[in-house]
Amino acid sequence: MNKKTFLQKYGPWGIIAGGALGIGRAYSEYLAKAGLNIFVLDHNELGLAQTVEELSKAYQVQVKSLVLDLGAENILEQLTPYTQDLEIGLVVYNAAVTDIGGFYQNNLEYELKKLAVNCRGPLVLAYHFGKKMVQRRRGGIVLMGSGSAMAGAPFYTHYAATKAYDVVLGEGLWYEFKPANVDVLSVIPGMVWSSTTQEVFNTERVKKWGYIMKAEDVVRQAMAQLGKRPSYAPGFINRVGFFVLRLLGRTATIKFIGKNALFNFFEGKRPDIL
Ligand SMILES: NC(=O)c1ccc[n+]([C@@H]2O[C@H](COP(=O)([O-])OP(=O)(O)OC[C@H]3O[C@@H](n4cnc5c(N)ncnc54)[C@H](OP(=O)(O)O)[C@@H]3O)[C@@H](O)[C@H]2O)c1
Repeated sequence: MNKKTFLQKYGPWGIIAGGALGIGRAYSEYLAKAGLNIFVLDHNELGLAQTVEELSKAYQVQVKSLVLDLGAENILEQLTPYTQDLEIGLVVYNAAVTDIGGFYQNNLEYELKKLAVNCRGPLVLAYHFGKKMVQRRRGGIVLMGSGSAMAGAPFYTHYAATKAYDVVLGEGLWYEFKPANVDVLSVIPGMVWSSTTQEVFNTERVKKWGYIMKAEDVVRQAMAQLGKRPSYAPGFINRVGFFVLRLLGRTATIKFIGKNALFNFFEGKRPDIL
């Protein structure tokens, strides 16, 4: 899609929730390069300041930012004073609480925070800004799912469950919002180098056997599919892998994901249940 069409469809402002680092930063840069003014939300104050400085210098667009905890209950109340006069044509919800380990490795409060950042946040932004887009009869929403969401994913069980929520939310909205000319895409990445994963993926086995994509490639490939389909897995190898797992069925897939996690991240030994 050329720059003019992109701006007409999704401009003049794009919000990137969790847009300071990693995949989020790549989204922020992609949108700025495409000519959108960007409003970057993130709780990482330092990362946010650096991203804003770099992108403001590099691109002739307006760059605004807000330090915001996307797990907070009142994100809309915090956001509204800054967004009420902006025409938001595109929302990318990228932030997530991510971890690997047994189900009880963290307390319930932490898991509820994960639920808020990974599910409540995308719902609130999609509901609020999506409504305005539908009224305007144009716009786009991008939600970040995960390949882990295709079946139960042992040792990142709750994370994967939250990502399944994101995938299904976006896919349903894709169909509902289509008549209003609002494009919705659920992105289903495999492994990606990012601020969150640079340490986690740094095991010998993952580096040797894993297919780990660059954040910029994920974003470029995903954005090319916005408006074309309900969901998309960047990376041909990922698409083949997910297809094969689907053929195997859910039980075999769950076992595969569980064993893979054990060998990738726990040297083959199950972490204690409690
Ligand atoms: N990386 C992968 O391999 C992979 C695979 C599948 C799906 N995904 C999905 O892709 C998305 C981004 O991936 P990523 O985890 O690798 O992260 P990332 O894009 O590198 O960074 C996410 C950004 O969001 C910020 N953030 C996290 N929690 C926040 C909160 N409560 N409020 C505001 N900002 C917050 C992070 O800050 P801090 O870093 O300071 O917390 C960071 O700046 C997630 O939705 C994830 O589920 C990633």
